[in-house]
Amino acid sequence: MSEPKIAGRGPVKVELKEGETYAFCTCGYSENQPFCDGSHKSADGQFAPKVFKAEKDGPAFLCMCKHTNNAPFCDGTHGSLD
Ligand code: FES
Repeated sequence: MSEPKIAGRGPVKVELKEGETYAFCTCGYSENQPFCDGSHKSADGQFAPKVFKAEKDGPAFLCMCKHTNNAPFCDGTHGSLD
């Protein structure tokens, strides 16, 4: 399995709305980070967005390095990437 593209080396803060569904980009190629814009289709077919529903209104820190073990949220993994 190929590695996702590192879209950023720190999380991005976004405002989520409770009950709303979002498609988080896991491939790193989206031009609409941190959300999917369909670019994964040309990445190599190994990636698909992670669809999730916000559990509450308010800010969230979403992963931009695409190596988190807690997608779509940042878990600090960006700090250990080369
Ligand atoms: S564009 Fe990255 S998962 Fe869709």
